Amino acid sequence: MDLFEYQAKKLFADHGVPVPTGKVATTPDEARAIATDLGGRVVVKAQVKAGGRGKAGGVKVADGPDDATAKASAILGMDIKGHTVHSVLVEQASNIAEEYYASFLLDRANRTFLAMCSREGGMEIEEVAATKPEALARIPIDPLTGVDATVARQIAVAAKLPEAALDGATELLVKLWDVFVRSDATLVEVNPLILTADGRVVALDGKVSLDENASFRHPDHTGFVDVSAVDPLEQKAKEKGLNYVKLSGQVGIIGNGAGLVMSTLD
Ligand SMILES: Nc1ncnc2c1ncn2[C@@H]1O[C@H](COP(=O)(O)OP(=O)(O)OP(=O)(O)O)[C@@H](O)[C@H]1O
Ligand SMILES: [Mg+2]
Repeated sequence: MDLFEYQAKKLFADHGVPVPTGKVATTPDEARAIATDLGGRVVVKAQVKAGGRGKAGGVKVADGPDDATAKASAILGMDIKGHTVHSVLVEQASNIAEEYYASFLLDRANRTFLAMCSREGGMEIEEVAATKPEALARIPIDPLTGVDATVARQIAVAAKLPEAALDGATELLVKLWDVFVRSDATLVEVNPLILTADGRVVALDGKVSLDENASFRHPDHTGFVDVSAVDPLEQKAKEKGLNYVKLSGQVGIIGNGAGLVMSTLD
């Protein structure tokens, strides 16, 4: 299950990862109220499960409550890569000195967990990996020992983060690993991870994929499910303890495993 940015940031905050203060709004008036509470400059961010929101015009800075209302009106209802924007995150604008990249993920091909970190953040990491592979540090993580301060510092140093960001990044990476393990995630990604003008390291964006095979351990994660996106038939089956996958066409198969059913269907 992929989370929205605001949900990822809630998970981050629960584990002590620094994130900007903010709240989610579904109407321009709600956005105004949040901007009024926060005071000062805010950023209005489209909440869709797709990348490249900034480029698509879904991330905008606003000077105050009036501007936040206008920006929210423009962004709500927008279509980003086939996803309609139903909510926006309104959060405090950060004073950015530099933008980096950090993630932990399950590397299935190499049968390991992997840390990826780069001094070149903010932009699409796939592009960095393709054009400047030396700028993206990739460090395999031993699942038994995980990421303590020593390993976290190695990751930050391998990514060539500047001296000013090392302590903050080390602390943040340890907590981010904690999110990854405790939430049974297969991906936690921060792009950009920023150094603020006053020297703090903060997660300015968040992408999290949770492993649904572990959802029985996380009753609290049911709140993350986007009910508007769940197929009603699949939901009905789930309530009865059945695995039901809705596909198109006229052929239906009852079987004792998704893999077997799919091969039979093929
Ligand atoms: N709270 C904030 N304060 C200041 N600037 C921000 C804030 N949030 C985002 N930005 C700026 O907007 C840029 C894009 O934001 P973000 O990374 O969240 O979206 P995106 O990368 O376009 O979307 P996606 O991650 O879905 O591809 C950031 O790199 C940053 O420069
Ligand atoms: Mg981003």
